[in-house]
Amino acid sequence: VAANVARRDSLRDQAVASIRRCCETRPIAAIILGSGLGGLADKIDNAVSMAYSDIPGFAKSTAGGHRGQLILGTLADAPVVAMAGRFHRYEGWSIDDVAFPVHVMHALGASRLIVSNAAGGVNPKLSVGDIIVIRDHINLMTSVSRCAVRPSNLPLSRRGEIYDSAMSAIAMQTALEQNFTAYQGTYLATFGPTYETRAEYRMQRKLGADVAGMSTVPEVLAASELGMATLGLSLVTNVANPDISVKAAHDEVLEAGRDGAGKMESIVRRVLVDVLRI
Ligand code: 6GU
Repeated sequence: VAANVARRDSLRDQAVASIRRCCETRPIAAIILGSGLGGLADKIDNAVSMAYSDIPGFAKSTAGGHRGQLILGTLADAPVVAMAGRFHRYEGWSIDDVAFPVHVMHALGASRLIVSNAAGGVNPKLSVGDIIVIRDHINLMTSVSRCAVRPSNLPLSRRGEIYDSAMSAIAMQTALEQNFTAYQGTYLATFGPTYETRAEYRMQRKLGADVAGMSTVPEVLAASELGMATLGLSLVTNVANPDISVKAAHDEVLEAGRDGAGKMESIVRRVLVDVLRI
């Protein structure tokens, strides 16, 4: 474990050095943009982009709808670093590969993480286009609920609250003001890449999940271990209804993602204005 941590920290330092050579922005927040939600990356002012393939330690992003760029700049006048495209376990990357960019963004200066994803609506009250403000998660992606590489000075136990209540409250307030539907809920992470069977949707409901997706948990666990305040947002791109046999299609997920991107954007802007500048 110690050797893995040392290797990761050395790669992290190399990544930070190569990013700083490219751009002087010192981000206060990190943003991870999920499937179809990368449009927000185009709204970043004074943007400097780097391909993941040019950053030491970064894996290569391959899933459709993902760009594979790290973007530094400002959003709502706050200096930010954003990932357009992320790494998934189902692509074959390890937990540590998936979480590595969070370590880099934290080392660049980000003390907060805003993470978004496209997810299936497991709770029957959810419709396509709804936003879930993630208040907790169920990790069925891995058999352990923590990162494989753990800094030796951190306790083994998980903090009760991984998701930040103040940023969550701002997200809910934004939805109220902008007139779109948002609920606070529980995100269930699966390994993927397949969606679930109807019996599995039924199981997920019984377990207490509101939405199901294939990402986010590795990054959030890393952020938690680094002490970053985290906001998690899911966009419901398809409903996971055990009583209707409709298969989720990646195309639909991407289309709903484009529609939901505006909602995500208003939340992210509002959080940056409210939390970071006061
Ligand atoms: Cl229905 N399930 C999972 N695991 N991930 C998803 C999804 C469903 N819809 C979008 N992502």
